[in-house]
Amino acid sequence: MITRIDHIAIAVQNLDDTLRFYAEKLGLPYSHTADEPEQRAKVAFFPLGGSEVELVQPTDSESGLSKWLDKRGEGLHHICFEVDDIDAALANLKAQGVQLINQEPVLNSAGRRLAFVHPKSTHGVLIELYEAAK
Ligand code: CO
Repeated sequence: MITRIDHIAIAVQNLDDTLRFYAEKLGLPYSHTADEPEQRAKVAFFPLGGSEVELVQPTDSESGLSKWLDKRGEGLHHICFEVDDIDAALANLKAQGVQLINQEPVLNSAGRRLAFVHPKSTHGVLIELYEAAK
């Protein structure tokens, strides 16, 4: 079961330039920026109403995100939904023939489990499923 939007991720070329827009001009509440080596990216976090907006800049020109940016340009990258049981969510999607990027959950740096659903199956949106903390 999907319980909330955890975050919305926007892919950017230059985090410092982008921060000037989102934090200063738009006025989104900025929290902090962190290196995410396992994603080969750095991420600026804007907590908002129990969800977050994340600006994501690749730190490795060979990463998937970097290639995505080269091909598509800056913009909305993915939406992350929190699920109460990621194993059940993935099994349910597989049973319906939905194409997954991660067949099994992968761990992030915080040890939380997540998986991506392929945009071919979601009408064009990369969807991340993130298991709620237990
Ligand atoms: Co994400």
